[in-house]
Amino acid sequence: MTPMTCIEDLRQVARRKVPRAFFEYVEGGAYAEETLRANRADLERIKLRQRVLVDVGGRSATTTILGEPAALPLALAPIGLCGMQHGDGEILACRAAQTAGIPFTLSTMSICSIEDVAGAVGKPFWFQLYVMKDRGFIRDLIARAKAAKCSALILTVDLQVLGQRHRDIKNGMTVPPQLRLSNLIDIATKPAWALSVLRGKRKIFGNIAGHIKGMENVNSLTQWISGQFDPALNWKDVEWIAGLWGGKLIIKGILDVEDARNAAATGAAALVVSNHGGRQLDGAPSSISMLPKIADALGSGIEIMFDGGIRSGQDLFRALALGARACLSGRAYIYGLGAAGEPGVARAIEIIKNELDVTMALTGVKTVAEIGRQNIAAV
Ligand SMILES: Cc1cc2nc3c(=O)[nH]c(=O)nc-3n(C[C@H](O)[C@H](O)[C@H](O)COP(=O)(O)O)c2cc1C
Repeated sequence: MTPMTCIEDLRQVARRKVPRAFFEYVEGGAYAEETLRANRADLERIKLRQRVLVDVGGRSATTTILGEPAALPLALAPIGLCGMQHGDGEILACRAAQTAGIPFTLSTMSICSIEDVAGAVGKPFWFQLYVMKDRGFIRDLIARAKAAKCSALILTVDLQVLGQRHRDIKNGMTVPPQLRLSNLIDIATKPAWALSVLRGKRKIFGNIAGHIKGMENVNSLTQWISGQFDPALNWKDVEWIAGLWGGKLIIKGILDVEDARNAAATGAAALVVSNHGGRQLDGAPSSISMLPKIADALGSGIEIMFDGGIRSGQDLFRALALGARACLSGRAYIYGLGAAGEPGVARAIEIIKNELDVTMALTGVKTVAEIGRQNIAAV
């Protein structure tokens, strides 16, 4: 097999291995995908300042995230339906992250449940919460994440209503899902994927099925979920959730300076500058364009994390230089998962790590803490 030298290589293999509906579910963004494209384009525009004849021996990309040691300033982002990229995808990705020494986040919309993952991995992971109208369910979900010893709760606040993704509708990823002849023919050409999913612990949303009465099949589940996102969600609810959780809270989906100040005022441990990977408000600015503004506005009381468009160690370096303490990887690791399961995720992390290390060397930096605006080229 040709060596996988970059994230794009993993993406190409995932494209061949994963059925089109699920691959495009990952690829796509909301509406005209302007914000999705801006996330990448704006990152690429940032040029790095090359420095020479600086002693960069003994470099290290290690850091701490929320006070815990991490092998690099990266965590795996919450991604719904990981188990549809590869059977047991959540468990495999979590294992790869833990072996690499970085945090993994399990989505509310995962296929494997909190308990499935907790029972299959050695260390604590982060749990991501979508707040549903059914607050009793949310109370239980938080209690389950606590019982599973999750070490942080990511509260996602940018999905009170769903940004329409044209590709999902065209591919039958609707409520209820529509399995068309074209989907079946496509799946028939991906036997390795089909086998892995068939062998997986679960086929539907593991955190929800069996926990709400009458929600056992895909149709009832998707209908319940689509009616449950709560447009009334507000800062008061954040207080309620923080109180229930009692541990480290990360608020994800901040793209505005005023919202960032509000997030810091809640006492949350961290916020994630994010536009949900361009999947929600189309026409919103890229995440990277908002990062320095938010970083400048906040003091050191809250850790600033970033996601949106990271496909390389160079991108990770750009975000660190503009004020992120750590970043979340979304699609980059999902391509690895679709391409090759656990080793694919491990390879994605390794690629980004190696690229970050070389970027540090060529910009004259030895430690993650040193990376800053001075490493951006004035062009
Ligand atoms: C397929 C897919 C599913 C996602 N599911 C969730 C989710 O369940 N919860 C959440 O908070 N964010 C979710 N996100 C957003 C990611 O956590 C992250 O913000 C985004 O992927 C970052 O952009 P990137 O993919 O360009 O790295 C999802 C993103 C993708 C691509």
